Amino acid sequence: MTHSHTITVEPLGVEVSCREDQSILEACLRQGVNLPHACTHGTCATCKVEVLDGEVDLGEASAFALLDSERAEGKALICTARPKSDVTIEADVEEEDGVVFHAVRDFGATVTRIEDCANNIRRVELALDGNIDLNPGQYVQVQIPGQGVTRSWSVATPPASTDAIELNIRRTAGGLATDGWVFAGLAEGDRVALSGPYGRFFLREQRTEPAILIGGGTGLAPLKAMVRHVLETGAPQRLYLYHGARTRADLYDVDYFTDLEEQSGGQLSYRPVLSEEVVEGIRHGNVTAAVDADFATCAGHVAYLCGPPPMVEAALKMLMGKRLFPRDIYREDFFDSSDKSSGGVRSPLLRTS
Ligand SMILES: Cc1cc2nc3c(=O)[nH]c(=O)nc-3n(C[C@H](O)[C@H](O)[C@H](O)COP(=O)(O)OP(=O)(O)OC[C@H]3O[C@@H](n4cnc5c(N)ncnc54)[C@H](O)[C@@H]3O)c2cc1C
Ligand code: FES
Repeated sequence: MTHSHTITVEPLGVEVSCREDQSILEACLRQGVNLPHACTHGTCATCKVEVLDGEVDLGEASAFALLDSERAEGKALICTARPKSDVTIEADVEEEDGVVFHAVRDFGATVTRIEDCANNIRRVELALDGNIDLNPGQYVQVQIPGQGVTRSWSVATPPASTDAIELNIRRTAGGLATDGWVFAGLAEGDRVALSGPYGRFFLREQRTEPAILIGGGTGLAPLKAMVRHVLETGAPQRLYLYHGARTRADLYDVDYFTDLEEQSGGQLSYRPVLSEEVVEGIRHGNVTAAVDADFATCAGHVAYLCGPPPMVEAALKMLMGKRLFPRDIYREDFFDSSDKSSGGVRSPLLRTS
């Protein structure tokens, strides 16, 4: 049997039990202690803590997210760190009023539908064996069969349909999970194992300012959950949804969002933007430039940014130039294994909670 240790989380003063083969973050999230995190794969540095006492195995933390000097100072990324003894950590805990976090749980699921919804993008629908409680925008970790690894994919469905979730998965050339499984052998009727919910990129229901949502590629997935949640629950937020893609063949759910916009009575504006193809009726250019052109100032708004890290970073800079503060900007970077070894794009302005 795998040995367990006690993790004391300061400044909360709470204790959780953590197995030696489990990350400290995973143990905390499963026992209802929701500490700051984003990628959960050692890339973004959001979960960095100070180890005050005890010994940890730092695991596969990226050399860019946890520098040698920080390792020497006793810092750790708790999404990769595993305990070797009882441990006390000091985390950067931030209180947020009106936010309810749901504990991470395991689920079995059946693939009910696979659809090629755009160029190299698959919509995968799953029927979970039980209901998952999540906030709109959060993600799940899916176990990749036979590989002993998980991949993170955002849930595109809002909490209202909690036993049936939709994932939007982009094929990555040479990618273990996508090229090697989702776009290869995965079939309707297959059983998959997953856990969730993860992440702090979700709709802040208490923020009723107009929201600018910018998604690149499958970065649309969590934004779809947010838009649907607002419209289906009658929440008051005015929504501006921008979806950036290269060509028309890379866009998906155009009819869906066009209909939703029409039915929303002016609450939702849907603006797809193509960077590499000119198509009548669709904006041309960079998605960030389109938002820049549409808003003289973004003061008084909140923004949700999601997709490839360079797009998220560019949108963040543009919005700050339009008088939006970091506290008004929520971001989810779709980091992958290459970002972990190259450092990806990391910003001191990273905000996930
Ligand atoms: C919070 C979060 C949410 C996400 N949500 C979504 C989503 O909703 N939809 C979506 O499509 N994606 C999403 N992603 C990205 C997703 O998790 C995967 O990273 C992506 O699907 C690729 O997985 P893969 O196993 O196919 O690729 P990987 O095997 O991880 O490979 C990715 C790329 O890196 C290269 N590579 C692999 N190993 C190395 C190495 N050691 N050094 C250098 N290069 C390497 C590969 O050749 C490939 O080009 C999300 C990511 C995060 C962090
Ligand atoms: S959540 Fe730990 S490094 Fe990203």
